[in-house]
Amino acid sequence: MWKGRFAQDTSSLVQQFGESISYDWRLYPHDIAGSIAHARAQKQAGLLTDEEFSSIEKGLKEILADIEAGRFEFKASLEDIHMNVEAELTKRIGAAGAKLHTARSRNDQVATDTRLYCRTEIDLLVAAISELQSALLDRAEKYAATVLPGYTHLQRGQPVTVGHHLLAYVEMLERDKGRLSDARKRLNISPLGSGALAGSTINLDRRAIAAELGFDGVTTNSMDAIADRDYIAEVLFATGLCGVHLSRLSEDLILWCTAEFGFVIFSDAHTTGSSLMPQKKNPDVCELTRGKTGRLVGNLMNLLMAVKGLPLTYNRDLQEDKPPLFDSIDTLKLVLAVNTEMIAAMEIREERALAAASDPMLLATDLADWLVKQGVPFRHAHELVGKAVAESVKTGVQLDQLDLTKIDAAYNDDAKQVFNLQRALAARTNPGSPSIENVKAEIARWRKG
Ligand code: ARG
Repeated sequence: MWKGRFAQDTSSLVQQFGESISYDWRLYPHDIAGSIAHARAQKQAGLLTDEEFSSIEKGLKEILADIEAGRFEFKASLEDIHMNVEAELTKRIGAAGAKLHTARSRNDQVATDTRLYCRTEIDLLVAAISELQSALLDRAEKYAATVLPGYTHLQRGQPVTVGHHLLAYVEMLERDKGRLSDARKRLNISPLGSGALAGSTINLDRRAIAAELGFDGVTTNSMDAIADRDYIAEVLFATGLCGVHLSRLSEDLILWCTAEFGFVIFSDAHTTGSSLMPQKKNPDVCELTRGKTGRLVGNLMNLLMAVKGLPLTYNRDLQEDKPPLFDSIDTLKLVLAVNTEMIAAMEIREERALAAASDPMLLATDLADWLVKQGVPFRHAHELVGKAVAESVKTGVQLDQLDLTKIDAAYNDDAKQVFNLQRALAARTNPGSPSIENVKAEIARWRKG
């Protein structure tokens, strides 16, 4: 491709070191779409005859079909997807193929391909996240009224329901979709026409090319367009954070399926056994989800480190942007799919959840609230309940069995009404709180979309 200036062939070690075709081959549909749009603009500008354009378009479409059918041989000696496609086109159609690269560089080409790839994958990810949300909603609905302890510091705090707990993850996933969609809006502009870094003396209609490729507009600074990898960083952040959310869900579920908690049962299809201990049923899907999140976050760091020291504009370091991008997309897609399947099939052990939530200590805050309603200032109420809790811990008498009137005159026999779990939940009616009515209304809201 650059034989004019060079007297020696590239060393085979340098070829091996520098090739990206082993992974960037997957940009082929975008590379070919970009080339067709670019060639059409060349025809419009009078740089290609109608016949030349037709033979380029036909040749590229045949290459596309061959790649799709597994009939195309990618060559590491041709370095990357851009040169593999162009070289093959020229081999097939001759002279017209050699005109395709007019007013274009691999630098604006790779930026275009990668943006198109991100756009396609974001749409798939958003759909996959919606599937997982549906599975969570389905479980939230089934267990909307199943009481469960809510934890802070992994210590029992206050009663919630399984539905409310699962809906928390539906919220997180919605924000993940929002971040991906937001990144999509920003990245959907066309860098084609930025050339190597300074545009071109041959003016093609950039807006027409952009429109053909479904971009919303064109980039407005050729140097920025070539050097920019923000859009990859944004995708890696959004996928990384989605991974972090799923890792937290995994951690909850790993705890829930221990003998100690015993709140959840996964289907046999979504757990694994031990080669040694016959009794084991392990939550490997959750553990791998948690583990793979390290990769997702690492991929973001990988990209940011690759870019941080780069002067404008293109530097070959930028070729290192694609392995982390591809890995994060592939990893998250699989994580989403397997979690969707596992969540859809998981069963909650309602009696265990109820037993854990029936600890009267979970209603200590409600008792303080009751005192407040009798006119006791909250700080003082907190102290009075603290004393009752200390008494319960010391004597081993459950909080709801103590004679509270012996602890302070502010208590009366009505105080006991606090220790009714259903009442306690039903009282949590403020927006965002876990009354069963609220949880059901939230599920209905999510279902409406
Ligand atoms: N394979 C290269 C990449 O992924 C394409 C751009 C190459 N440009 C260059 N000037 N060597 O970044």
